[in-house]
Amino acid sequence: MSGPTYWDYLQLPSLLDMQRGLDSSDADVSVDELHFITVHQVYELWFKLIIRSMRLARDHLAQPRVSEETIPYVVHHLRRVNTILDLLVRQWRVVETLTPQDFLAFRDKLVPASGFQSFQLRIIECLMGLDESHRIRYGKVEPLDHIRKLADASPGGEVAWRSLEQARGELSILGALNRWLLRTPVQGTSPGDPGDDENVRAFLDAYLDRIDQNHTQQLHRMVERLGEDHRPHVEERFASIQDQARSFLYGLDVVPHEQDSARRIRAAVLFIESYRDLPLLSWPRLLLDMIVEFEEQMVLFRSGHARMVERVIGRRVGTGGSSGVDYLDKTASYRVFRDLWAIRTVLLPRDRVPELRSPELYGFVSTERQ
Ligand code: HEM
Repeated sequence: MSGPTYWDYLQLPSLLDMQRGLDSSDADVSVDELHFITVHQVYELWFKLIIRSMRLARDHLAQPRVSEETIPYVVHHLRRVNTILDLLVRQWRVVETLTPQDFLAFRDKLVPASGFQSFQLRIIECLMGLDESHRIRYGKVEPLDHIRKLADASPGGEVAWRSLEQARGELSILGALNRWLLRTPVQGTSPGDPGDDENVRAFLDAYLDRIDQNHTQQLHRMVERLGEDHRPHVEERFASIQDQARSFLYGLDVVPHEQDSARRIRAAVLFIESYRDLPLLSWPRLLLDMIVEFEEQMVLFRSGHARMVERVIGRRVGTGGSSGVDYLDKTASYRVFRDLWAIRTVLLPRDRVPELRSPELYGFVSTERQ
């Protein structure tokens, strides 16, 4: 028979010889340690595919002109990432078949190695666009710096640090998404068109007026049902929500030189989300849905890991030296795609959004604008 075998193609002899950990042979590794090593390797293999898919999605989204056919391609790769993450979240169930006693039997062997040194997870974070200043440290230990310091002294260190350094210098999915959103036509105009800024501001003002009207109606209904005593408190609450909505949509919460772009990006998100049923917006809104789901899956991955860790080691200090579960729970608060989350607080029901201008632009016609 000519041609490769199954085991040659998959390099199975090498792959199956890689679960020895620090021991010289498979026979020295207990079944529990084999389980521990295998699940880690499986996670890291999926991370590899996630990273490749993220780069593909990012490259397509970052093109100067994103054609209508490109968005389904980006959505396709992000859907794969989300499906893998869904599996990884469920896989914590397999990990936690390790009892606390099973783990304690070999835990000391690995100190101070830890998932905290998973450079592939850090690459995923960089490619998403996690702001380095938001990273959670424990004590003075900063996650990326920790890998850089260890990399010098370990055999696999060069690959770890080189690949992480490369990812840190790349455009992130957040960066590519914002560039694309910045150019998205809002109420019929794109940046560079005459009157685009006025058009965007008029859209935001009209939307804020509708939010205000919505609040007035809700206030009326609440006072009717709960009594006049509730009016001052509810009025105050709605006024505060209205101020926050204006500040967010106008980008007043960011540094002055970024306010114009923040306003246009947020107007585009608001526009796509509000008129999501229009044929020409169906792929863009699916793209936003995929990105929200991606971040949601990452949060579930982190909190699922923390719960599994709590079950196996309780509140012990981690092998990497962190506070363990407390540290891991804090990482579940990371949010990269903040605008996509924040917009949900201001969205109105379908029948209350401002009237759509130039509806013919959003039908089933090809647009050269993107
Ligand atoms: C019994 C199983 C496990 C235990 C007890 C455990 C425990 C911990 C602890 C305590 C930390 C915090 C850092 C430290 O102080 O060490 C951590 C971090 C981490 N672990 Fe695990 N872990 C387990 C399995 C896994 C598996 C199977 C993966 C799969 C890749 C994994 C991936 C990670 C990652 C990526 C981090 C860094 C999280 C971050 O900094 O955002 N862990 N783990």
